[in-house]
Amino acid sequence: MSDDSYDFVVVSNRLPVDHVVHDDGTAGWTQSPGGLVTALEPIMRSTDGAWVGWAGKPDLDDAPFDSDGIRVVPVPLSTDDVQYYYEGFSNDTLWPLYHDVIAPPSYHRLWWEHYSSVNRRFADAAAAIAAPNATVWVQDYQLQLVPKMLRQQRPDLTIGFFNHIPFPPYGIYSQLPWRTQIIEGVLGADVIGFQRTADAGNFARAVRRLLPYSTRGTTILVPDGDGSREVVARPFPISIDAEAFEELARRPEVQARAAQIRSDLGDPQTVMLGVDRLDYTKGIGHRLKAFGELLADGAVSVGDVVLVQVASPSRERVETYRQLRDEVELTVGRINGDFSTISHQAISYLHHSFPREEMAALFLAADVMLVTALRDGMNLVAKEYVAARFDEDGVLVLSEFAGASDELKTALLINPHDIGGLKQAIVQAVRMPRNERRRRMRTMRKRVSDNDVLHWSATFLAALREARARG
Ligand code: G6P
Repeated sequence: MSDDSYDFVVVSNRLPVDHVVHDDGTAGWTQSPGGLVTALEPIMRSTDGAWVGWAGKPDLDDAPFDSDGIRVVPVPLSTDDVQYYYEGFSNDTLWPLYHDVIAPPSYHRLWWEHYSSVNRRFADAAAAIAAPNATVWVQDYQLQLVPKMLRQQRPDLTIGFFNHIPFPPYGIYSQLPWRTQIIEGVLGADVIGFQRTADAGNFARAVRRLLPYSTRGTTILVPDGDGSREVVARPFPISIDAEAFEELARRPEVQARAAQIRSDLGDPQTVMLGVDRLDYTKGIGHRLKAFGELLADGAVSVGDVVLVQVASPSRERVETYRQLRDEVELTVGRINGDFSTISHQAISYLHHSFPREEMAALFLAADVMLVTALRDGMNLVAKEYVAARFDEDGVLVLSEFAGASDELKTALLINPHDIGGLKQAIVQAVRMPRNERRRRMRTMRKRVSDNDVLHWSATFLAALREARARG
């Protein structure tokens, strides 16, 4: 064990910072994108913790350093590791499999070997810096073998695991050639968190089908030496730092920027907004289809309504993502070609990611927010939109296949596969009277502010403490 040891260690594929090389050739670190970072950053700042993860580029070997009160411990990945563990097994096997096989998963033994060896490296890095009896919180599908590997090395640790993405029904999960190893890996944790009750239920069913362990409610009895350990597997729906997001939206410069955005768009009656990583789980094609048909039907018209679609670049070396980009951009081009005028575009398409201030301004500028995911663990964008709307205005159209729909019940809930229903919901959103918008938004805002990310982490960490007390 090294001299530097920490009582609280987070392990995730991505670090909260990205390695960047500036134009002048010097290297540095910037905040990295993604819901996970947004969710965990406030917790890490308030505890004296260490964060073990990958810097986002191959073949870096940086020493641990301090960043904004967080000890950052980079785990290097080779070019092959990035290709086979990250792009391959994580994002071309597990990601499509866990999102209901919206895209076909690929199964390759070489990818699995890299997944196992990289998980081993993350476990070793965490074991080396965790203080005696420390708490280690492992995040997400990229690192499902880490809990068991950690427990084997360091039985003194209290180990949590949180799955940010859905856990699929057994009929789908059972395709995975390494289905038992993954379940055993995750069961190395004391507490296993999921976004939705359905995800926790799917996991418990997979345990019962694959292993001779008994489950009682949310507890699974896992053999341990001569006896057994109690593992808790239950939902802990993740959230955002709602107060910080609202504070951002209240800033005069952000409000001025929102007004500027509307004016730059030609002051239409209705601004509709989609904000997604460019990912096939997000249902961007379904949303574009519905919008295109509404324009063709004459139910909405260019000039009165504009759709701003932010599609932030993601996993661009994975073939399915390349194809998706082509499909989305073809569709956007067609709709704009058919319906835009010299002065007004039907869709303003932005293939960038933006800073948080600009996102908050976009949320304030948007009368209607479209979240049409075909499957999504939670969807923090939906919660960010709600948190930004301190004016209690704006309509959220939300897919029932996003975890957020369990909580945001006064959104206009839609099935994105039902294009007719989606079109109706969009028209309803465009026409919704102010008092109804206020009533629905108020209910959602209360939920998001009561159940913010601090509530999420506090609830999870309390469950971990209980596990330790039982221990
Ligand atoms: C989802 C996953 C995260 C991941 C993020 C961005 O939110 O649950 O684990 O970090 O997507 O994806 P990326 O592959 O760029 O890290």
